[in-house]
Amino acid sequence: MIKWYEAIESAQNVKELEELRISVFGKKGVLAEQFAKMKSASNEEKGAIAKELNIHKAKLAQLLNETKEVLATKELEVAMKAEGIDVSLFSTKGTCGALHPVMETMDKIVEYFNSMNFAVHTGPMIEDDFHNFEALNLPKYHPARDMQDTFYFKDEMLLRTHTSPVQIRTMLDTKPPIRMIAPGAVFRRDYDLTHTPMFHQVEGLLVDVDGKVSFANLKYILEDFLKYMFGEVEVRFRPSFFPFTEPSAEVDISCIFCKGKGCRVCSKTGWLEVLGCGIVDPNVFKAVGYEDVSGYAFGLGVERFAMLIHHIGDLRSLFEGDVRLLEQFR
Ligand code: DAH
Repeated sequence: MIKWYEAIESAQNVKELEELRISVFGKKGVLAEQFAKMKSASNEEKGAIAKELNIHKAKLAQLLNETKEVLATKELEVAMKAEGIDVSLFSTKGTCGALHPVMETMDKIVEYFNSMNFAVHTGPMIEDDFHNFEALNLPKYHPARDMQDTFYFKDEMLLRTHTSPVQIRTMLDTKPPIRMIAPGAVFRRDYDLTHTPMFHQVEGLLVDVDGKVSFANLKYILEDFLKYMFGEVEVRFRPSFFPFTEPSAEVDISCIFCKGKGCRVCSKTGWLEVLGCGIVDPNVFKAVGYEDVSGYAFGLGVERFAMLIHHIGDLRSLFEGDVRLLEQFR
């Protein structure tokens, strides 16, 4: 029996040990064989042999268990070392980062309006009631405030619900004429397939001193812009309402997926809504103390553009930071 103790002690791995266990404890194993032999011994001897065999049985079982634990731990350590990543090592494979699709789309939008002489302005994300609502012709208790599910702080401070307040800040800070866009993050209490609590907009504003800015000017630049972004599409203006513009319109492009025939993305209408715009409401100019001016304004959601351009179905995937998605935009 001694040789089995030695064999177990010198086993190199769990697999070898398991083979030994079968050789000792298996149906045709050493112990079974010894117990069988015992049957031919005399009655006096039987007791002594059985006692001795049972002692071996217990000792061998304990030794097997202990050795197994030691070997298994060792094997786990080796496996972990082999599979672990040494972050201090230089990588041989270089992975290249890329702009996030939302930022890339934003850059392209900014690029267009820069080429049309619009300056880029920014404003704070934490706004006050005056800039975000009041000055934009959205007085307190105006029903249109409900369209913008606002995150409020104390003292009438809030997370801006759109980039339109940058219009107000720019007009208060500078004299007309103005040609500006305001790209940036905005916040609303909303979360589903097409809404996230934070998203990005680009606001546009043009103000001139001769009172001659017309809807035709607005139409021209937006059509040109949308063709720059989406290629050869048809553009249509639908009468709509925004408190800060009068008249106002929502702008659609012919569906870029079905070419206007009607599909799932455009809800069978053949059209995709992409932005809001209008002629600046006189009340907005009054709020910033501008007289004898005219202007147009527009606003768009950057994620919506990115989703259409890249055919992304779920807005939320843009904010999960999943490398498998982001890698596709390299
Ligand atoms: N602020 C609007 C929104 O968040 C977008 C918008 C629509 C801006 C029309 C404008 C405009 O300047 O004229 O939904």
